[in-house]
Amino acid sequence: MTTAASQVLDRVLVLEMVRVTEAAAVAASKLVGRGDEKAADAAAVEAMREALNSLYMDGTVVIGEGERDEAPMLFIGEKVGSAIGKGPKIDIALDPLEGTTICATAGPNSLAVLAIAEQGGLLNAPDVYMDKIAVGPGYPEGIIDLDRTPTENIRAVAAAKGVEPSEIIACVLDRPRHEALIAELRALGVGIMLIGDGDVAGVIATTNPDTTIDIYMGSGGAPEGVLAAAALRCVGGQFKGRLLFRNDDERGRAAKWGVTDLDKQYDLTELAKGDCIFAATGVTDGSLLEGVKRKGGTMTTESVVMRASSGTVRWVKGEHRI
Ligand code: FBP
Repeated sequence: MTTAASQVLDRVLVLEMVRVTEAAAVAASKLVGRGDEKAADAAAVEAMREALNSLYMDGTVVIGEGERDEAPMLFIGEKVGSAIGKGPKIDIALDPLEGTTICATAGPNSLAVLAIAEQGGLLNAPDVYMDKIAVGPGYPEGIIDLDRTPTENIRAVAAAKGVEPSEIIACVLDRPRHEALIAELRALGVGIMLIGDGDVAGVIATTNPDTTIDIYMGSGGAPEGVLAAAALRCVGGQFKGRLLFRNDDERGRAAKWGVTDLDKQYDLTELAKGDCIFAATGVTDGSLLEGVKRKGGTMTTESVVMRASSGTVRWVKGEHRI
């Protein structure tokens, strides 16, 4: 760990990160329920970029809105921060609006999300799918494994919890590709919380007993997998991810970002290693955070910021004058 980078993670960025996710969430919130995913995303991206550029760091977006030719802002490789070339080198994974459809339809769990680490700390995941499985803290290491069947994973978690598989609750994205997984879980009597979108919140929900979700299973975006892994590094829990490639183009993109072992099962610390910080602000109400609310001349935000090295989790309520 370089001293400069460590000090920045320590002293400056932990709370500053909340200002960044707040800015994105507030911008997107103006478009909640307006049916325009692109406009909501664009508003969040612009606000997040502006806020990031006010931070003293030499930041590089390693997970962003896409590759340079497809994203005008916050593209992968874009430099952000006010101290490019002289400040501490920080890698950034971001999703200014996680759950664009949720936001456009005023559904639950739309978030503005950001994770940072020292240079090289975050897997440069290409924008492909990732097979994911996650549980919250308190289970023996290695209890979940993508090389085991869903049934084996559920039985292992149930045994560790001291309950029957039928008492386990799994969170799964509601997608046709999950038909076989859902059928297998139903055969075990597992309770399934099907979510329309937003698997960053879905994975994090396993760490919060109030959600009653024991396990997250299924495939979703790989960038979202890295963001969720960064959060679990901070709060505890286990996560395994494996990139899924549908064609040679996707395999080629993986090679471009330095992924050589295409079948690798990634552990938490391989997705987000060293010290890292995760921050999120709610756009719409959800299991993790409340969404942005406007009352009279005031607007409230709810955010969380967590840090891996200390395990500190800070909940931040913001009251902003409109
Ligand atoms: P967006 O914010 O990019 O719309 O992502 C929402 C999301 O539900 C993610 O949480 C999830 O990882 C991914 O989409 C799943 O992809 P797909 O909708 O193609 O199944």
